Amino acid sequence: MATEWVVRDEKEENVFWPSSEMKKRAWVSDEKIYDDAKKDQIKFWEKLAEDGLVWFKKWDKAYVWEKPYFKWFVNGELNACYNCVDRHVKTWRRNKAAIIWVPEPIDEDVKVLTYYDLYREVNRFANALKKLGVKKGDRVVIYLPMIPQVQIAMLACARIGAIHSVVFSAFSAESLKQRIEDSEAKVLITADGYYRRGKIIDLKRNADSAVQGTTIKNVIVVRRIGNDINMVKGRDYFWDEIVKECDGYCEAEKMKSQDILFILYTSGTTGKPKGIIHDTGGYLTQAHWTAKWDFDLHDDDVFWCTADIGWVTGHTYACYGPLSNGATLLVYEGAPDYPDIGRWWKIIEEFGVTTFYTAPTAIRMFIRYGEDLFKRYDLSSLRILGTVGEPIDTDAWLWYFKNIGGCRCPIIDTWWQTETGGTLINSLPGIGPFKPTFAGKSFPGTVHTVVDEDGNELGPGEVGYLVQKPPFAPGLLHGVWKNEKKYIEEYWEKFNFRYYYTSDGAYYDEDGNFRLTGRVDDVMKVAGHRLSSAEVEDAIDEHPNVRESAVVPRKDEIKGEVPIAFVVLKHGEGSDSLKKEIIDFVVKGIGPTAKPAEVYFVSDLPKTRSGKIMRRILRGIVNNKKELGNLTTLMNPECIDEIKVVVGYKPLE
Ligand code: PRX
Repeated sequence: MATEWVVRDEKEENVFWPSSEMKKRAWVSDEKIYDDAKKDQIKFWEKLAEDGLVWFKKWDKAYVWEKPYFKWFVNGELNACYNCVDRHVKTWRRNKAAIIWVPEPIDEDVKVLTYYDLYREVNRFANALKKLGVKKGDRVVIYLPMIPQVQIAMLACARIGAIHSVVFSAFSAESLKQRIEDSEAKVLITADGYYRRGKIIDLKRNADSAVQGTTIKNVIVVRRIGNDINMVKGRDYFWDEIVKECDGYCEAEKMKSQDILFILYTSGTTGKPKGIIHDTGGYLTQAHWTAKWDFDLHDDDVFWCTADIGWVTGHTYACYGPLSNGATLLVYEGAPDYPDIGRWWKIIEEFGVTTFYTAPTAIRMFIRYGEDLFKRYDLSSLRILGTVGEPIDTDAWLWYFKNIGGCRCPIIDTWWQTETGGTLINSLPGIGPFKPTFAGKSFPGTVHTVVDEDGNELGPGEVGYLVQKPPFAPGLLHGVWKNEKKYIEEYWEKFNFRYYYTSDGAYYDEDGNFRLTGRVDDVMKVAGHRLSSAEVEDAIDEHPNVRESAVVPRKDEIKGEVPIAFVVLKHGEGSDSLKKEIIDFVVKGIGPTAKPAEVYFVSDLPKTRSGKIMRRILRGIVNNKKELGNLTTLMNPECIDEIKVVVGYKPLE
């Protein structure tokens, strides 16, 4: 067991470096890799694609950039499921644990699926999808909780070339419907329910109301709870019943590298979520190598990524990345604090988890429980810790490093996005540095920089827009589903196709380590979940008595940010019951993750002369910012005083 402390830099406080043991074991430990990769980025990725994946046919061209699209490994052929499952069953890994599934109820048995088990289940289920008429290129929506059928369903889609679109199980029926309609999916896969903090969540009811009037022809239902649910004859099938009649082998479809593997909807700057498109070859290459190098995955590791499969982190690090590496993946169904606050740590102790990847929000939540709680659990199996989704402050970083990592485990703070498919900016465990609040350097083979409004590159310490330079990373999005305009507007237009635009602010230090300063658009990160102001506003505006609304993020000690709503009513005055109704509209329209933490009733919202709501000013007020910026461009500056009073604005010195 590693007991050596990660070496501390003498010069700088709180900058840590890998221990000699970590360096010795790591796949990558020489920082020369960064410069080597830069010499010919395309060649670098070609080698990774070749070494890391099984291809049925080699590509003709490694990289093509035809504005607005770029392609990797053009006409190369492979199958993502084959790379995650079949290739391992041909080796000694066939009986290795692929998925250790931990149910939320403590009296229920843990299930272990070996790679062979996974192979059998995926094959059968792929045949079940075929039986329902699902073909290459068709869309399948997956609305499942964290149960092994979710990975099985994703891999089965990949096997037959169907495009999966996973929808977070805590999203509402309306959110699900919107995503089904946009993707024009044929089949929906869901469950009869799942457990969350001991309560049964009735997923099927949401599914039933969402599919009404859509393109969905069939619904496959996993029996997770065994409760009594409504099944529509001829439309709905139980998973266990349909697979029983299916063959145990299904040929893996030969997919072109640039064929779509999945669509994942995420929040943009408008009310309607956009379907981010990821391809097969490029995405899988990045998923494979980032999982291997960022988390230094070896065959004896037990990897646990706590993200829900409904988010990109779940796709890449609770499915494709670790499985393509033949790793053992731990999947936990439930809440971190059920039945008590020790649950996660007990799981780490019980299964000897070595690699643990979570969000800063979770860490900040645990800090409240003090240090003693964590001493009760043996966390000595841990080797590497990761974070993702939002900035982590120094206190949370050091707490995580000390209390969970026992000062042995580097913290890999990974910056990336739904659009980037895999991690892009972070320190590597065998190289370092591990510096609180700094994510680190660009993943080898990618180059990021910080630019001003005109696209001029800025120097160390200067805050600007974070962008990626070409050649663009293989895992980066390949379009927005049925919306090329949006794809161009949101990612390419700002800098005229010179860079990929991230919508994040950042700066870098003298050594080239990046520090993120947050989104520069109207997108919030609530407990690491991405949410747009417009989406919440649209849900609020559905209320018959709402004339208009504006939603902005307020800083929050645990969740990072929480949505705050300003509402102008059509008539009458605000009240507690109206507040509750408005919050219910948001829960119904999006889901509980989007609940506003506060609803303020005001008589007007600050607007420019062209009628655009100035959310920037509201954001300043709710965060008690002293500088609210230029107010002279406002059409109605008089409303600011009322808003300040309603919020109880106390400018910070
Ligand atoms: O603002 C950045 C923040 O999360 C955004 C992307 O959100 P999403 O698409 O939901 O993907 C999250 C999981 C990959 C980014 O634009 N973000 C992500 N990781 C970090 C981060 N901010 C600071 N530090 C990070 N490590």
